[in-house]
Amino acid sequence: MTTIAPRITTVERHMLDLNGRNPHATPEFSWLMSGITLATKIIASYVQRAGLMEIIGEAGRVNVQGEVVQKLDEFANDTLRRCLGYRKNIGILVSEEDEEPHVIQEAESGKYIVLFDPLDGSSNINANVSIGTIFSILHRDPAVTGNDVKSQILQPGCKQVAAGYVIYGSSTVLAYTAGAGVHMFTLDPSIGAYLLAEENVKMPETGNTYSCNEAYEKNFPNGIRRYLKWAKEDGGFSSRYIGSLVADFHRTLIRGGVFLYPGTPKAPEGKLRLLYEANPLAFVAEQAGGMASDGEQRILDKQPTTMHQRTPLIIGSKNEVERVLTF
Ligand code: AHG
Ligand code: MN
Ligand code: MN
Repeated sequence: MTTIAPRITTVERHMLDLNGRNPHATPEFSWLMSGITLATKIIASYVQRAGLMEIIGEAGRVNVQGEVVQKLDEFANDTLRRCLGYRKNIGILVSEEDEEPHVIQEAESGKYIVLFDPLDGSSNINANVSIGTIFSILHRDPAVTGNDVKSQILQPGCKQVAAGYVIYGSSTVLAYTAGAGVHMFTLDPSIGAYLLAEENVKMPETGNTYSCNEAYEKNFPNGIRRYLKWAKEDGGFSSRYIGSLVADFHRTLIRGGVFLYPGTPKAPEGKLRLLYEANPLAFVAEQAGGMASDGEQRILDKQPTTMHQRTPLIIGSKNEVERVLTF
C-alpha cells in the first residue's frame, strides 16, 4: 500500500487557493511568485554551499549604497533579475543593488513592479549567520500615465499587492502575505519545493525581547533611549541582535518583541531602506497582527520620495511598538 504523499501545498498553489479571499491571488500572479520561489531556491543552494563554492569574498565593487558588494549579493541580484526578467506580467524591477530601476515591459501588460533586497545581512555571509531575501510587489499605478517609471515605483507601502521574505538559515523558510494573512513555507531540498508549514501566522501581542544595535545607543533619539532604559531596568527584557534584518524580524514574528533601527544625528533616517526592507516587512508584520512605525508615523503610510531612501524602523508586537511610541 503506497502511503499517500502528505498534503503538498506549494506557494503557487497556496496563492490560487487564496483566490476567493484575495483579489490579487490570480493564476498570473501565482506565475509571478514562481519567479521568486525559483530564484530563492537557486540562491539557497548557493548559500548552503557558499564556503565550498569559493563564492565568498568581495566582488571588488561598491554598490549605490556605498557598501562593499559581496559576491553572493551580486549572484542573488542576477538570479532574481534572470528569473523575474522573462515573466511577461512584470514591468519593472527595483533592487537595492541597482541604482536605477530595470524596466522589462513598457507595455501595460507588465503590470507588476517587483522590488527586492536580493541578499539581506550580507555582511554576515562569511560568518555563517542567517541571511535573507526580501521582496515587495506593487501594481503599476493606473493613475500614473505614460512611462514615468519613478512615480510608478514611489507608492506608499499600503499599496503593496504582496510582500515577504526568505530566510536562509538552518532551514530555508519563505514567508509571504498577499493581504490575506501571513503564510510560511519550508523548502524541502530533496524535492526542491517550498511546502506549506504554517498558515495565518500571528505575531505574539507582547514579547519581552528588544533587538537593536546597542553600539549606537548614545546617539539614539531621547525617547528611544528612555525606552531602552525602561526595558532593561523595569521591563525585565532580554536583548537579541543578529545583525541580519531578516533573521531579527523572523524571530520577532515567531516569538514576539520589538526590533528597532532608529535614526541618529549622523544618519537621521537610520540605515534600513523604505521600499524593499521596511515596507515589505511592515506589511507582513501588520498582517500577522503586529505593527511598524518610523517613530512618527505608520511605515505603510509613508509617501516615498526617492527609490533608495532610508527610514527609521520600529517593528514587532503591537503592544511593544505602542509602548516604544509612548516614550
Ligand atoms: P544589507 O546586507 O541588505 O545591506 O542589510 C544589512 C542591514 C540589515 O540586515 C541589518 O539589520 C543591518 O544592516 C545591521 O546594521 P548594523 O550593522 O548597523 O547593526
Ligand atoms: Mn538589507
Ligand atoms: Mn542587501
